[in-house]
Amino acid sequence: MLRHPAYHAARAEGALAQLGERHNGIVEVSGSIPLGSTILLYNYCPLYEAFVMNLEDYQVANRKIWQARAKDYIAPAEKAWHSHEAYWGIWNTPESELQLLPTKLDGCRCIELGCGAGYVSSWMARRDGQVVGIDPAANQLKTASRLEEQYQLGIEFVEGFCEALPFPDSCFDFAISEYGASLWANPFRWIPEASRVLKTGGRLVFMTDHAFAVCCVPDDGNWRAPMSERLLRPYHDLFKHQWNSSSHEVEFHLSHGDWVQLLRDNNFVIERLVEVGATAKSSSRFGYADANWASKWPAEEVWCARLSA
Ligand SMILES: C[S@@+](CC[C@H](N)C(=O)[O-])C[C@H]1O[C@@H](n2cnc3c(N)ncnc32)[C@H](O)[C@@H]1O
Repeated sequence: MLRHPAYHAARAEGALAQLGERHNGIVEVSGSIPLGSTILLYNYCPLYEAFVMNLEDYQVANRKIWQARAKDYIAPAEKAWHSHEAYWGIWNTPESELQLLPTKLDGCRCIELGCGAGYVSSWMARRDGQVVGIDPAANQLKTASRLEEQYQLGIEFVEGFCEALPFPDSCFDFAISEYGASLWANPFRWIPEASRVLKTGGRLVFMTDHAFAVCCVPDDGNWRAPMSERLLRPYHDLFKHQWNSSSHEVEFHLSHGDWVQLLRDNNFVIERLVEVGATAKSSSRFGYADANWASKWPAEEVWCARLSA
């Protein structure tokens, strides 16, 4: 049994219900976490990450970039929390078109993997789900917690990485990621974790950039340059991708064949692959989004899968 300072601090403050055995190098949280609490598990002990979690360089780099970017995501998050209607991705595609969320989530334990400022969590909570959002960037969670305080939806926000989820096996019914773990975490680590924490029959939905788009985005420092109508980089080399023109953050992309294999290897049955485009008149707050291009090719993809027995 690992007894690191976080254990005692959290226990003393009554912040965590129960911390149990180590799992995947982190302390497993068992029992239910009090509603409405923000749990800064790793903040209590910086040495914990170094000695117990063995963070990889890309995790440190990605967290750093999202700590800095968090301020740019405050206003969009406020708008999205305010909206009762869900909308998705770079084109704000309405839920009525994509149907990614079950209409009712009452009695369901839901997790948002890489929740950022937590607006997807708010949409699940408004459908009566019992929701946890996890993200490694404390600044993003600060916005999420403030908005939770404002709207009082009973969402729990946990600071952590999706490559090692601090939750017991088989405890969630529904897991979702919109450009969170789906883009920024190593899929060969977070997909097995999603499979572990979902109950049999539980569903996983995740949205990320479409492979076509990743192959066609120019990488010359001008994020407003039109998308190329030719492939600019090899499809099979996208796995751990760093843009030349960007800082040190690392994205993860898989070919469709590799996603299928990885999901199947982790007991998922694929229900849908939704390829999301736009109309030539669509608008986006993201500089790289090119409506004309996306009216011809999908810019985003959503995988919907169910955990089999
Ligand atoms: C684009 S935001 C996603 C949240 C929200 N849906 C949005 O689009 O604003 C990306 C989030 O992924 C988080 N992230 C980065 N690395 C992660 C990891 N290894 N596990 C989980 N989340 C991660 C970042 O901290 C950031 O908040």
